[in-house]
Amino acid sequence: MTHAFYSEHVNAAEVIELRDVEEVPLAPGQTRVKILRTPINPSDIAQIGGVYGYQPPLPALAGMEGIGEVIEVNGEGHEVGTLVLLSDPPGAWVTERDFPSHTLVPVPNADIDQLSMLTVNPATAYLLLTEYVDLKPGDWIIQSAGNSAVGRYITQLAKARGIKVASVVRRESAIADVQDAGCDAAFVDGPDLADHVAAELDTPPVLAIDAVAGAAFGRLASTLGNGGTAVSYGGMSGEDISMSDSMMIFNNITVRGFWLVNWLTSASPEEMQRVYGELTGLILEGKLSAPIDKIFTLDQINEALAHTVAGGRSGKVLLAPNGI
Ligand SMILES: NC(=O)c1ccc[n+]([C@@H]2O[C@H](COP(=O)([O-])OP(=O)(O)OC[C@H]3O[C@@H](n4cnc5c(N)ncnc54)[C@H](OP(=O)(O)O)[C@@H]3O)[C@@H](O)[C@H]2O)c1
Repeated sequence: MTHAFYSEHVNAAEVIELRDVEEVPLAPGQTRVKILRTPINPSDIAQIGGVYGYQPPLPALAGMEGIGEVIEVNGEGHEVGTLVLLSDPPGAWVTERDFPSHTLVPVPNADIDQLSMLTVNPATAYLLLTEYVDLKPGDWIIQSAGNSAVGRYITQLAKARGIKVASVVRRESAIADVQDAGCDAAFVDGPDLADHVAAELDTPPVLAIDAVAGAAFGRLASTLGNGGTAVSYGGMSGEDISMSDSMMIFNNITVRGFWLVNWLTSASPEEMQRVYGELTGLILEGKLSAPIDKIFTLDQINEALAHTVAGGRSGKVLLAPNGI
């Protein structure tokens, strides 16, 4: 089996190496899984770069989520051939790996590209829409990075509940993407964002959801109505958030932060089952999806990472460790 790993925290595309790992007999209580698809997410890049919320000791395996097929079980577990969501992150960017059997979640035999992305981004979108503001049909929300995978999931989930979505992107060429995804209004970020939003929306947004940070956070928050909430969940600009204090004070804006890991470590098993059950159903029905830009094999890992961080993609980059 081959594992992707890194030994130091620098630019992801320069530090990922592949090593062949000798196969050992499967330990009791473990399941060996052949990895079929695993996405490259911004959190993977951040962890490899040493700027994520937790860091495994070096050298470390990489890759937070994915889907695989059970190929061997020692003791109780899912049948050989079952499709499972990977657990015990990081360590998804491998051809095969052993997992504690009880941590693997079986999924139906369906679209492996979409299911490989189920654990992180759909749940993030779901919780951003449900944990902060009691949104009603007809309310407006506004989001940055509207063409990201999370942005698309937010749009799909919000539209299904009658919530109106304003999507902000950083380049004109992404406007068509967010419109195709179903948003009700689309904007290119810039100094006049608040004026453009006020001119186009019938009522101001009640929730601003930001993945960019830096000054973009303040621009997004400045579109909110009085008493609105701005939630920061990503830092794609690499800068700390900044916003006008007078806008925050006089407009009574609440600022919050979201990290899925906090929810995963505090939610009850029933709550997780409810959220992931609903999201799995939506993916199986084709009502929740994110476009795929390109699929690479594991030996193309550094090319795949360079392609991912270059930006301007039309969707997610996936790895197919056992072939496309
Ligand atoms: N807090 C959490 O628990 C949590 C969980 C999941 C995801 N996230 C965050 O959610 C965000 C989106 O993740 P994803 O997987 O959906 O991303 P993705 O599909 O890979 O898309 C990345 C997005 O970021 C934009 N972007 C890249 N560099 C940027 C920059 N320098 N300034 C502004 N925008 C930039 C891209 O715009 P272009 O298309 O123009 O390149 C694109 O819209 C990330 O920040 C990620 O860390 C957070």
